[in-house]
Amino acid sequence: MSYRNDEVVEKIKDTVDIVDFISSYLKLDKSGANYVGLCPFHSEKTPSFTVSENKKIFHCFGCGVGGDVLEFAMKKENLSFPEAINFLGDRYGIEVKKQSPEDIKRQEQRNKSYEINREAAKFFLNNLLENKSALKYLNDRGINNKVIRNFGLGYALDGWEYLHEFLIGKGYKSQELEELGLVGERSNGNGFYDKFRNRIIFPIIDTRSRVIGFGGRVLDDSMPKYLNSQETLVFNKGTHLYGLNNLAKSSDREKLILVEGYMDVISLYNNEIDFSVASLGTALTPSQVKLLKRYGEEIYICYDSDLAGIKATDKAISLFLDEDVTPKVIMLGEYKDPDDFFEKNEKEDFEQLIKNALHFIDYKIHINKEKYNLEDIEDKIKFTIDISKDLRLLKNPIEIDVYINKLSKELNISKEAIEKEVFNKDEKNYKKKQTRKKTKPNNHRNINYNMNTVLPKSDIRAEVELLRMMILDRKYYEVIDAQNIFKDFKNHTCKEILRIVEDIYFDEDYIEEERIRRIIANKDNIDFRVTELILDREINFESENIEKMLNDLIRTIRVNKLISERKQVRDMIKKLDESQESMDPNAFSELFKKLTSLNGKLENIRYEDRG
Ligand code: GTP
Ligand code: MN
Repeated sequence: MSYRNDEVVEKIKDTVDIVDFISSYLKLDKSGANYVGLCPFHSEKTPSFTVSENKKIFHCFGCGVGGDVLEFAMKKENLSFPEAINFLGDRYGIEVKKQSPEDIKRQEQRNKSYEINREAAKFFLNNLLENKSALKYLNDRGINNKVIRNFGLGYALDGWEYLHEFLIGKGYKSQELEELGLVGERSNGNGFYDKFRNRIIFPIIDTRSRVIGFGGRVLDDSMPKYLNSQETLVFNKGTHLYGLNNLAKSSDREKLILVEGYMDVISLYNNEIDFSVASLGTALTPSQVKLLKRYGEEIYICYDSDLAGIKATDKAISLFLDEDVTPKVIMLGEYKDPDDFFEKNEKEDFEQLIKNALHFIDYKIHINKEKYNLEDIEDKIKFTIDISKDLRLLKNPIEIDVYINKLSKELNISKEAIEKEVFNKDEKNYKKKQTRKKTKPNNHRNINYNMNTVLPKSDIRAEVELLRMMILDRKYYEVIDAQNIFKDFKNHTCKEILRIVEDIYFDEDYIEEERIRRIIANKDNIDFRVTELILDREINFESENIEKMLNDLIRTIRVNKLISERKQVRDMIKKLDESQESMDPNAFSELFKKLTSLNGKLENIRYEDRG
C-alpha cells in the first residue's frame, strides 16, 4: 500500500475546489478575482485572508500563512502530509492509494471494528444513564452529565454476558468481539464472557472520532483498578493519547498538558481546562511525543507527584528533548494528581500552577535538591555533576550560561568549574547530541511540491507585503514612508527593490513591474523568489482592510527590529561578562538600562496589539 505521491498530490490539487473546501471553515466573500475572509489562523476583525481560485492557493496578509489546499488541511486539521492527502481524498472521493485486495479486506475489517466499538460505547453509555450507583460514583467524583456525554463515559453492567448478547443481537460474531478485546472465550470452550464487568467505561476515541478501545475502572477498591483493551487492529496504545479527540477539535492550541490518568483529563476538563491528554496506561512513547508536538506549542508535564510520577517525568523530559520540545513541569505540591488537586481547588488555582510551572532544568534542580544534602561537600559535588549533565540538554548557549551563573551563585562553586563539567567532561556525548540535531529528518515540511508555497521567513514577509503594496499604489508608498521604517528593512532583496521603488516614485506616480524586473536583473545577490513574491499582483484586497493591514505589517517590522537590537545587547552583556579582565561597571549598567528600555518598548507594542 504505497502512495503515488506526486500523482496523488496533483490529483488532489486539481480536483479539490479550494474555495469550496476553505468555505467549510470560514465565510469567504468574492472580491475581484479572489475571495477574502477572516483568517482562521490568527484573530482579526477585518479580513486579510485571501483565496485565489485560479492559482488554487490561500494567503493571509495579516499573519503570513499561505499555501495550497493540502497545506490548509494540514494546518487547520492538524494533519501530517500523508494524513492530509487521506483526509481530502476521503472527503472528495479521490482515490489516494493503490489498494491490493488484502488492503481492501483489512480496511473493511477496520471499519467493522470501529462500528462494533461504537455500538459497544453506546451500550455502555445507555447503561450508565440508567444505573443509579454508577452515576452516583461519577457524580460523587464531581463529574456532571455534560462531561459524561462529552467523553462518552459508560458503565459495564455487573454480569457476564450483557455486552456479548447485545452485540450478537446486532449481528456481530463472537470471534469479532473477541478480537476487539470486548469478550473472552470461556476456558471450557462453552461460549464467551464480557471482559468489562461492573466498571466505569472510558472509550478511547481517535482524532477522527472513531472509538478505538476502552478503559474500565472499578467502582470500589478491588483490583485491578483499571482494565484497558488489548492492542487490536484499530488500537495501538503507543500512538494514541486519551483526550486527543477533544483537543483536535480546535486546531491551534497554545498550551497542552500531559497527565497520567483518564480521570485527570476528565477532572481538568470538568474544571474548564480542556487541553490535557493522558498516555494510555503505558509509558510515553516517541510517537506520542510527535503527536503532541502537532497539537501544542508549549508542552506541560503534570504527572503524579509520587515517586513513579517523578521517574516518569524524567523519562518524558528526555523524550521531549529528543523531539526538540522544551517541556515545562507543573508542580502539584501536596496533591497526588490533578484530579486530587481539584477536590480542594478551582480552575484559577490550577491556572496559577500552570503559570508557576518550572522550566525542565529548574525542575531537575528542584528534584535533585531534595535528593542531596547541599551542606555536605560530597553531596554538593554529586549534585553539581548531575545538574551539569542536564545542562548539556539545553540547546541555547545563552540559556546554558544563565543556568551556570545561577548554579555558581547558589552553590558557591566557580563558574569555570561548572563550565568544565558541562562542556568538557563528556565531550563525545555533547557532540553527538549536536550532530544528531542537525541530521534529524524534518518530515513533510521538506516536501517542496509547489513554488507558490515557498514563502520567506516571517520577518521578511512583512517587508515583502509592504513592498507589494507600495508598488501597487503610490499612496500606500506615502503612508508607509511617513512611518519612517524603511531603515529597518533587513532582507537584501527587499532593500534593493525598496531603493528602486524610491527612485521611481521620486519623479513618477506609477510603477511598471517590468521596470523593476529589468533593473533588479543587473543587481547582485538577488533572491528571485522574493522578487516574484513582491511583484505578484494577482492577489488583491478590499480597500477597507488596507489601513489595518499596513499597520500590522509596520508593527511586525518594528517588533523584529527591537528583537534584533535586544539580541545584540544581550550578546554584548554576555561578552562583557566573559571577558573578566576589565569589568567596567558603567558599561554594564548602561547595557542593562538599554535592555530594560528595549523590553519596555516591546511590551508596549504588544500591549497596543491587544488593546
Ligand atoms: P483514579 O484512582 O480513578 O483517580 O485514577 P488515577 O488516574 O489516579 O489512577 P492512577 O494514578 O493509579 O493510574 C494512572 C493511569 O494508569 C490510569 O488512568 C490507567 O491508565 C493506568 N492504570 C492504573 N491502574 C492500572 C491497572 O491496574 N492496570 C492497568 N492496565 N492500568 C492501570
Ligand atoms: Mn486520581
